[in-house]
Parts: sequence; C-alpha cells; structure tokens
Amino acid sequence: MGRYSDAFAQARDDREGFWLTAAEGVDWVVPPTRALDDTAAPIYRWFPDSTLNTSYNALDRHVEAGNGDRTALIWDSAMIGETRTYTYAQLLEQVSRFAGVLSANGVGAGDRVVIYMPMIPEAAIAMLACARIGAVHSVVFGGFAAPELATRIDDAEPVAIVTASGGLEPGRTVEYLPMVARAVELAASKPATVIVQDRPEIGGSATDHDGWLDWDAAMADVAPAAPTPVAATDPLYILYTSGTTGKPKGVVRDNGGHAVALTWSMANIYGIEPGDVWWTASDVGWVVGHSYIVYGPLLVGATSVMYEGKPVGTPDAGAFWRVIADHRVNALFTAPTAIRAIRKADPEATELAKYDTSSLRTLFAAGERLDPDTFEWSSGVLGVPVVDHWWQTETGWAIAANLRGLEPMPLKAGSPTVPVPGYQVGVVDAEGTLLAAGEEGNIVIELPLPPGTLAGLWRDEERFRKSYLSAFDGYYLTGDSGYVDADGYVFVLGRSDDVINVAGHRLSTGSIEAVVASHPAVAECAVIGIHDDLKGQRPSGYVVLKSGADIDPDILRDELVALVRNEIGAVATFRDVTVVPALPKTRSGKILRKTMRQIADHEEYTVPSTIEDPDVLSELARQLGG
Ligand code: COA
Ligand code: AMP
Repeated sequence: MGRYSDAFAQARDDREGFWLTAAEGVDWVVPPTRALDDTAAPIYRWFPDSTLNTSYNALDRHVEAGNGDRTALIWDSAMIGETRTYTYAQLLEQVSRFAGVLSANGVGAGDRVVIYMPMIPEAAIAMLACARIGAVHSVVFGGFAAPELATRIDDAEPVAIVTASGGLEPGRTVEYLPMVARAVELAASKPATVIVQDRPEIGGSATDHDGWLDWDAAMADVAPAAPTPVAATDPLYILYTSGTTGKPKGVVRDNGGHAVALTWSMANIYGIEPGDVWWTASDVGWVVGHSYIVYGPLLVGATSVMYEGKPVGTPDAGAFWRVIADHRVNALFTAPTAIRAIRKADPEATELAKYDTSSLRTLFAAGERLDPDTFEWSSGVLGVPVVDHWWQTETGWAIAANLRGLEPMPLKAGSPTVPVPGYQVGVVDAEGTLLAAGEEGNIVIELPLPPGTLAGLWRDEERFRKSYLSAFDGYYLTGDSGYVDADGYVFVLGRSDDVINVAGHRLSTGSIEAVVASHPAVAECAVIGIHDDLKGQRPSGYVVLKSGADIDPDILRDELVALVRNEIGAVATFRDVTVVPALPKTRSGKILRKTMRQIADHEEYTVPSTIEDPDVLSELARQLGG
C-alpha cells in the first residue's frame, strides 16, 4: 500500500489514532486525550477536552523556538508599488499590541469582531489579534456593499468593527468609511467601536466620524495582550457564504480542529515546510484567504505572501510571474479564472520569459473547476505540476486533492484527484442510493467530517441541519454534483443548487433576484448563472415588466445594474438584463431555471413534462437564439 492509501485507511478505521497523531503538530495548553466527541451526532466536536491558542501557534511558538527572524509575511502591493516584510517577531509584536487595543476597547473572549478590510497586512494582524484574545472574527469581503455588510453585522452582533479607509481597484479607489457608516446605520445591532487603518492613498479617516478610533493612535501606547487559552471547540471565526436564499450562512470554525487540519494540510497536501515561501493569490475575505493566506502558512512557520493586485492589468499579465521571481515563491495557490485572465492577455506567455520563476515547484488551483484547457496551458507554460483541489467555505480545507507532500499521484485533467484522508466521499442519486463508479449524482461526505470543517452555522442549528445534514441520513450534502471514476478520482461538475460560481466567488442567484425584483418596473424575474469564458459563470437576469410599465430597456438595465451594485456590491458582476414577456414555469409555479440556463448556453434541452405553457419556452428560445 502507498502512503496515501495507508493514511486514508487509518483516518477511516482508526480515527482517534490518526487525528491524535496529527494533533501533535499543534502546541496545546491542555493536550487532547480524545479526538472526536460524537455524543451529539450528527453534530460532532473535535478535541473536546483540550485547550490552546491559535495565534500562539501561528506566532509565539516560532519565536520561542528561535525563529523570530524568519520572514512571516511579505506584503506586495502592485497597486502602489510597495513591499513590506514582517518577521515572526515583528508580526507577533503587532498582533499582541492590536490584541491589546481590542481588549482595551471592551472586546473579550467569545465577542465578535467584524473585519472589513482590503488586502493589507493589518487585515491579517486584526484576525490574529482576535484569535489571541479568544474573540471571534468575521471578515467581510471588501467587494460587498453596505447592505450586505449590515446583514452580517446583524447576524454576528459584533462589539467592534475593524476597517481601513479603503481599497484600491484598477482605475479607482473604493472608500470604505461611507459604507461602514451606512452599514452601521442600517444594522439594528450597533458595534461599540470602529477602528480605522488610515491609508494615505484613500480619503476619509477615523476623525471624520464620532467616536471612531485611528489604528495607529490606538496602537501608540497600548499594553500588548498575552494569548488567552480557549477550548479547542470554541469558535475562531464566522465566515458568511452565499446560500440558496438571500440570507448568507455564517459558517463557524473552531480553534482546535482548524489548527490541526491546516497544519496537517500544509505538509501533506501542499508539501510546504518551515521557511518555504508560499503565496495564495486570493483575498482575506474568502475562505481560501483565511486558511491559506493567514492561518495555514503561519501555523507551520512558512513565509506567506499577501498580494494586493490583480493577475492582469497591474500593470500587465506578468504580475504573478514578477511576484514569484521577487520573493522566490515555492508554491502558488490561485483560482483558475486568474490563470484564464493571464492566458487571455498573454496567450504565448511572453511575460513569463522575462522572470526567473525557477523557485516555483507547484501551482495549486481551487475555487472552481480547473478546466482541462486551462490545466494543459498552465502546465505547459510553467513546466511544474498544476494541481486542482476541491473544497468549500464549509469544509475550510480540501475535500479532494493530489497530496503533493504525502504521495504525489498522476494528475488527470478535469479532476481534483482523490478524497483527502478523513473525507469519505460518495455519490448518491435523488433517493440517496450510492452510485457506482462513473455515475453522476449528488456528491456527499460520510459523517463525521474531519477536523477543521464547519462546527455549524452561527446561532442557527436548524438551518445547519436542514442545509447539510437532513437530505441524506448519515451524510453531509456538499451541494456539488459529479462522479468518482474507476480509479477513485473525483470529478466535480457543478452545483446542484441555485448557487453560482463567478471568478471563483460564490454568489446566490436568490439574493440578486431579490434586488432586481425590488425595482418598481419589475413584475417578476429570474437570475441564472450562464457560461462565461473568463469567469466560469456570470449572473444573467430575465425580467418581466409590470403591465403598463413604460421604460426603455437600456435605462432599465442600467438601473438594475446600479441597484445590484449598491445593494450587493461590485463583486456580483451583474451586467446582463433581458426583458422577456413571461418566465417559463412548471404547473406548480416553479421557474424552470435549469432549462433557461440550457437555452441561454445554447445546450440541448428537453421540454419538461411539468411545464405550464410550452409557448413561453419556445418564445424564450427564439429570443435567445437557442
Ligand atoms: N473591493 C471592492 N471592489 C472589488 C473588490 C474588492 N476587494 N474585488 C473586486 N471588486 C470589483 C472590481 O473592481 C470589479 O468592479 P468593476 O465592475 O467596477 O470593474 C468587480 O468587483 C468585479 O470584480 P472581478 O470579478 O474581480 O472582475 P475584474 O474584471 O475586476 O477582474 C479577474 C477579472 C479575472 C482579474 C479577477 O476576477 C480575478 O483576479 N479573479 C481571480 C479570482 C480569485 O482570486 N478568487 C479567489 C477565490 S479562491
Ligand atoms: P466557496 O465556498 O466560495 O469556496 O465555493 C465552494 C464551491 O466552489 C464548491 O461547492 C464548488 O462548487 C466550487 N469549487 C471549489 N473548488 C472547486 C474545484 N476544485 N473544482 C470544482 N468546483 C470547485
């Protein structure tokens, strides 16, 4: 048996032994004597009798081991052409002081802190500072607008918000403070404190707002905070992700399982060792940023590169290769959309030839399926393994991967390879019957999920059970469909619900629909995800006007695009609006979204037998040229 099959079998058959051994990679205050608590199954807890501090594991222990001078974080901003480096000792000092600022402002263990920040080091410092004092952070991606921020504030009820004067996007600045002010105004739950990192490039500062604090001033003479031991089962963070309804789901991550799983993953999945340079080109607002910009690399004493910029246009399609060369990056993790964007701008990879990228050992991709074409192109130009791996906000780390550190396996285009030890992946039909190799169906994971996966949804156990645990008894429902081939390779083909994936970001068509439907001229609407060559999918809206509504379609489109941008945010990338006479529905009134998507993507479709009026579908097909 190979190392992979040994590990897989042990994680399945000797769960306690496997995970207690993995737990030795973490420094505990009270070490675990048990791995799994299954007394409340199907809700599980990991390392129930232990305590630790996550920020101690990410920082202090490396300094105490004599590695304080090793580089922890390299911030590289292509937006302002600046680089800033923190050693482990320097990052520890900043984190301890900011933890002191939070404590001095009434934030205690278990309190929530919303972090709404661009890609600057202070975002990571704020996250680690929360972890240090046992507070629970909830990072909100900067591309979300005020109402989305307000929804998250109301759900998490934070004591404090940590923000910056703004973010930098190509050709424009994004001022955060007016959005934070509006979100606080909209939210019923009012945080006691707002702390602002002032960026000289962007207008607005804490002094413009009553009672808000300036980061630097607050840090000036504060007492640093020591790490507070917390239970392994205590929450480390809440991260909101799109569900099928407009209300985002607050995925809760614990401290102990998270530290164990990420530590194990850095060595076994990514093959990263202390001192290696690791770069995740994502954003701290997404789960990929939480796990692999901040926690994963620091837990194992590697160097993490944090990049503010884009793959193209900042200034060109050589941006990623420049960062690899400048910082001698050993492994890069990004989304396939970024690779497609580089390829589109520079199909012959002429920019790549300008840089010495010989330090790069592996390119990891996730967030959406790595399509075979992009896999072939990137493998060809880079000459290193390009490794797809599949995971979700809920799992926090990979469900299926090619385990480069444990036992590299042959890569198959279009597949994220095999289930990671700890995950028993199956494929079931609509009735819950397990399907044979090669048969497509709902991808499920046998319970319990391994450490590091979601402990639940914030204060909503009912939704947790309903969304993930009740569809098929004994299984976690991933929401993805696909199959497992005869060699045990997993193929993930897409979502089986109304969640869409745009540029590796997850969006709910339901929440976009709710905004579109609020326009006074709109009687009803459907938003579906259609194929997009660059971003994988993009949202496309179909609206039926109220009778008597007299509005120019171009004006309506502009108004709807602006509405979605203001209510959800630029990240929704909502630009397509088609006015249709009616929406195709079943006799029970359900909109035939799948058939609409097939028509819009010019795929073959069959007219469902449950259709209310076939003429509506024919008219749509005629209008869309399908
Ligand atoms: N704050 C504010 N606005 C943001 C933002 C942020 N943090 N991130 C993106 N936006 C805005 C963009 O400026 C853009 O606005 P615009 O409509 O005014 O142009 C809009 O949101 C859409 O952004 P994006 O989807 O990033 O598209 P783009 O056209 O600006 O860039 C790519 C295209 C391919 C370069 C970009 O999508 C990309 O880098 N993708 C990689 C995705 C990724 O890393 N995913 C992480 C998951 S692992
Ligand atoms: P998010 O929670 O935003 O990370 O989105 C998770 C979803 O993105 C998954 O449920 C999949 O639909 C999709 N996804 C992520 N990684 C992959 C991958 N490697 N292959 C296919 N789909 C993926």
